[in-house]
Formats: sequence, C-alpha cells, structure tokens
Amino acid sequence: MEWTNELTKRLGIMFPIVQAPMFGVTTPEMVTAASSVNCLGSLSLGDLDAEQCITTIRNTRKLSNKPFAVNIFTHSIPPITDTLRKKYQKTKVFLERISLQHDLDVIFPDIDELNISSYHQQIDAIISEGCKILSFTFGNLDSESIQRLKKHEVLLIGTCTSVKEAIILEKSGIDIICVQGIEAGGHRGTFASTKIPQIGGLSLLAQVSDAVNTPLIYAGGIYNAKTLLATKTLGADGFQVGSLLIASKESALKAFEKDRLKQIDEEDIVLTKSFSGRFAQGIKNLFIETLDSTEYILPYPYQNKLTGVLRKAAKMQENPNFASIWTGQSIHKFSEDSTGNILTELITATETF
Ligand SMILES: Cc1cc2nc3c(=O)[nH]c(=O)nc-3n(C[C@H](O)[C@H](O)[C@H](O)COP(=O)(O)O)c2cc1C
Repeated sequence: MEWTNELTKRLGIMFPIVQAPMFGVTTPEMVTAASSVNCLGSLSLGDLDAEQCITTIRNTRKLSNKPFAVNIFTHSIPPITDTLRKKYQKTKVFLERISLQHDLDVIFPDIDELNISSYHQQIDAIISEGCKILSFTFGNLDSESIQRLKKHEVLLIGTCTSVKEAIILEKSGIDIICVQGIEAGGHRGTFASTKIPQIGGLSLLAQVSDAVNTPLIYAGGIYNAKTLLATKTLGADGFQVGSLLIASKESALKAFEKDRLKQIDEEDIVLTKSFSGRFAQGIKNLFIETLDSTEYILPYPYQNKLTGVLRKAAKMQENPNFASIWTGQSIHKFSEDSTGNILTELITATETF
C-alpha cells in the first residue's frame, strides 16, 4: 500500500488519514495523538468565539508542534424576525415542560440572550494564530474570506454532500474536498439544497471523483481496512474517520455515553433535526422521539443554542435520554484504546490486507 500522494505532500503528513473534527468529542489530546502517529489531527472550533478559538488552538500547540487542521461551521445566520421570535418562545415553553417532566433542571435562554456570531471572527483568530490548514462544513466560505486565507497560505478543505456542492467548492478555489456520505456520524455538511441529499458514499464518492479534479478526502463509514480500501478504489485520496475514535481514551465523551455506544443496535441510528435544526446522525433517544414529529424545531443555529442547555444538563446528570450522542452507520466495537493505537491498527491492517 503506497500512502504517499498529493494529499500527504500538501498536508505534510505520512498517512492520508484524517481524525475527523468532532465538536464536543475532539480534544487537543485527540488531535495531538492523531498527529503523533503521522495522520492529520483536526481541531473542531464549532461555534466557539474568537477568544475561545485562540485558547483552544494554543492548548493544542502546547502538546505538539506537528501540523493539524482547525475546523469551523460556515453557515449563514437567519435574521430574528417576529415569526422566528414567536416560534422560539413556543419551542422554549415546550422544552421547559418536558424538562420539568423528566427532572432536568434547566434555565433556557431568551432569544435576545443568545450569543450567535459569524465565522468571520473565527477566521480572524485562525489567521492571527498562524494556522495553516482550515476545514469547514455547513457552507462554502465567502470569496473575500477565501482570498484572505489564501493570502496567508492557509490550505482550505471544504465539505460536500452532493456532486453539485463539490463543483461549487472546486469553482471557488477550495484546495481539497471532503466528500461526506450518508453513512457519516454527526451533522450533514449540506449547503446547496434545503432538502437533505441522502446519497450513500458509494454513489457520491464515485460521482464526485468523476466530476472534479480537486483531491478528495472521503468521510462516512470507514472503520477498518476493508472500508478504507473501498473508498480508495472509488477515488478517495484521504480517509476521514470520526465514529471510529469517538470512544477513544482522548474523547470528551463521558463513560455513560461510551457505554450507550457499545449497546447500539442498527435501528437506533437516525438522522434528526431535533437537537440543532440541521440534520445530524446519531443514537435515537426519548428527546428525538418526542421532538421529531413536532413543530418545535427552529432553524440552525437557534435550535442548537436553545437545546444546548438541555444537553449540558443531561450530560451532567448522565441521562442518555436527553444527551445528543452522534455516531455513523458503521457499527464497530467502539474501542476505548488511545487514538494513536486505533489509527496505527487501521494503518497496519490496511497494509497487510
Ligand atoms: C460526534 C461527531 C461530531 C462531529 N462534529 C463535526 C464537526 O465539528 N465538524 C465537522 O466538519 N464534522 C463533524 N462531524 C462529521 C465528521 O467530520 C465526519 O464527517 C464523520 O465522522 C465521518 O463519518 P464516520 O463517523 O462514519 O467516521 C462530526 C461527527 C461526529 C460523529
């Protein structure tokens, strides 16, 4: 197995395997562990403000001087209209009621108390900290940001969930495209459609590979040598693994969440908008079942911010019925070994397949 390719050269790594950015799961320790076995670690900055981004980047740098990617959410923010305000209030009242019913002590914020900022402030922080690899999801960067980042020699990795999105990313000069199949855990990166492209990795990766010339990283369902090599055959230059690492030693998940993962059944894995207002894949629970068929789902990021306090309380109380546990479609043993060992095992198994 020859690992060296365009991607390893551009990213300055030995193995084109990417530890997926996973907000709420990824830690500086996980990123460092991935980088220390010569893969690419990715630090998710999610919706952190600029100051928090700087602290997290510096904390990661204290642990290692190897290259790693930072990751942000590049979505647009719907304005607060009277209609949204009313819907927010109704959803808040509904969530207050179910929290009380289930003994969760939560104070939900009013819409005017939400701290919602655009990704541009994160870009300022990323540039000022001298980060050289930026991956992003939920949208494309605006052209001004692309030019600014390129001027500072930042390598850009955009996420697509359809051929249409891959072409948009390529046309706007994005250096590397992360192709996210429907198998992937966590949020869908969809941005060019209001509907959710439910395209499986097999179909999507092969079609994107035919449609663009940009190097491709594939994300979604890779959990062993077989799945990694299948995506290589379909056109992937790089291989992004998320769910494979979610229960690892360096994961921010708590023991009760790791235990829940180990009891997972195929039918437990669902795509839902209930926690954040965007589709994400994870383990079905009482919260999802209660919300999914109701009108109490606000657009992202409002739903995400509103349910954030509930998820935090559920995590504190170790209550899997209200915590969001994201995972993909490939069920595996959810190893609690170190990220470094899990990745090394994947590399060795691929080399000897
Ligand atoms: C818990 C979790 C959190 C995630 N958070 C992010 C994120 O912050 N940014 C991002 O670009 N992708 C995120 N993703 C998606 C991953 O980058 C990747 O597409 C996915 O994990 C690949 O599929 P797999 O889980 O089957 O390996 C997340 C995935 C999971 C499982």
